[in-house]
Amino acid sequence: MSLLDAAREVRDSAYAPYSHFKVGAAIRGASGAVYRGCNVENVAYPEGTCAEAGAIAAMVAAGETELVEVAVIADSPGPVPPCGGCRQKLAEFGRADTPVLLATTGGATLATTIGELLPGRFDSGHMSKTS
Ligand code: THU
Repeated sequence: MSLLDAAREVRDSAYAPYSHFKVGAAIRGASGAVYRGCNVENVAYPEGTCAEAGAIAAMVAAGETELVEVAVIADSPGPVPPCGGCRQKLAEFGRADTPVLLATTGGATLATTIGELLPGRFDSGHMSKTS
């Protein structure tokens, strides 16, 4: 099964009674294993979590901290862009050139990278004093 198909499949499990916007994400760890996540909303809206965050949590819980590929899918007019917070979360575990495939349930896709999604990212180097 392709990474996008895994994202499409897990999207069916999304819990989105408030936005009615279901999102599925799948990430491939460096080991080759695939981790899936869907958005999980909450009546206290800010407590909801994104699909990408769920997939990352599954990867880390399985003992992996490096991702090599990402796929995200939603029923949107165009390939769904990860929110700002998810871009930072993906950047934590991927590289600037890590491929990210954004897709719609209608079949549109956009191939991009973590670096394109989050140029000038904050990383641990910014916490090192030089003087
Ligand atoms: N959402 C995601 O799961 N991932 C994204 O990249 C964008 C937004 C979710 C959060 C919320 O449950 C719904 O989509 C509407 O914002």
